[in-house]
Amino acid sequence: MEPMAKVKRVLERNPGKIADGCLRVGVFSNGFCTLNCSKLPAVRSIEEDDEYDARTAKDASFEKEILMNPPNNSEHCMTQLMRSLTVEEYAKAFKSFLDHSTEHQCMEQFNQKELPSIVAGLGNGKSTIHVLGVGSGTGEQDLKMIRIIQSKHPGVLVKNDVIEPNPQHILAYKDAVRNSSDLKNVSFTWHQLTSMEYEKQLKEQNMQKKYDFIHLIQMLYRVEDIANTIMFFHSCLDCYAKLLIIIVSGHSGWTSIWKNYRDCLPPTDSGHYITADDVKVVLEGMGVKYQVYDFPSAWDITECFVDGDHIGGHMLDFLTGTKDFMNTAPLDLKQRLRHALGQPECSTKKDGRVFFRNDLSMIVVSS
Ligand SMILES: C[S@@+](CC[C@H](N)C(=O)[O-])C[C@H]1O[C@@H](n2cnc3c(N)ncnc32)[C@H](O)[C@@H]1O
Repeated sequence: MEPMAKVKRVLERNPGKIADGCLRVGVFSNGFCTLNCSKLPAVRSIEEDDEYDARTAKDASFEKEILMNPPNNSEHCMTQLMRSLTVEEYAKAFKSFLDHSTEHQCMEQFNQKELPSIVAGLGNGKSTIHVLGVGSGTGEQDLKMIRIIQSKHPGVLVKNDVIEPNPQHILAYKDAVRNSSDLKNVSFTWHQLTSMEYEKQLKEQNMQKKYDFIHLIQMLYRVEDIANTIMFFHSCLDCYAKLLIIIVSGHSGWTSIWKNYRDCLPPTDSGHYITADDVKVVLEGMGVKYQVYDFPSAWDITECFVDGDHIGGHMLDFLTGTKDFMNTAPLDLKQRLRHALGQPECSTKKDGRVFFRNDLSMIVVSS
């Protein structure tokens, strides 16, 4: 019989019980997360300081101790460490995800098919278009979109603000700009902040910043307050402006894992489980006009099923938000997660490989 896993948290607060006998921290026991007094289904929350801890200290007090107890508690305990990813580790795991998924190719399809007509009306003839990227990462997607804006508005000046808390991402973004000789008439301002810090800064300075195009691409999973973030950035739109949110779609494998197989995920995962369906609930509540474009995307997770595989290990880390999940998770949890990943609502199998459904929704909100 599998040993039962108990999770103990240093600086533990408000623990809630979950089905497999673990103590889960920072999770609303009803499976709901309150977002501005509204309830979104199946969104898991994090403690307020978790993101900060993860951002600021590699060995912050966020480690969890997994005590593998034999069922009758009579024998000596085996101790293993299971902890959340640091910012650096998350960035590395995300890179591995990008390398083995069609995430950026999927965005490229959207860029080519839909984005030109979406950005064509921005600014209504203004000579400067103000763009804001929130959680831009290394800026790869941002630069592609700026080029499309320029192609639809020849000769305009683009003023591009970037909010990105990870300093390494900002450095990589700056390098990408330096190496892009075609980016004429574009100015860049980087703010090494979280979206909430940026909002707070503007409010403290009593500043009303308006933008013609704001994008939140694959980053809402990590913000402190999702509904407020969407509302705040929507309020920053000028006339003839658009807000673009890119997020996993409500019929992706992520949705199945997060909603149907939640008990297969470890408590070390500190992100929000949010999909396009949840964003739509917020937008409906706001009463704003929006359009959704769905694009298929796949993530080859075959190596996740191979014990000891380096790439599979990184993938499982990204999936679970946990450092070295393959080697630190209790065997039972690992087996259950792999079983869930192989289910048809999560993945498809082709030529001996397993493709996780990473379908994306591009949500375009008008000002
Ligand atoms: C999954 S990456 C997406 C990067 C980029 N938008 C893309 O699609 O390639 C998420 C990004 O959001 C940033 N991020 C994390 N928490 C954030 C927050 N609270 N506010 C703003 N950005 C955040 C991370 O540093 C990371 O660069």
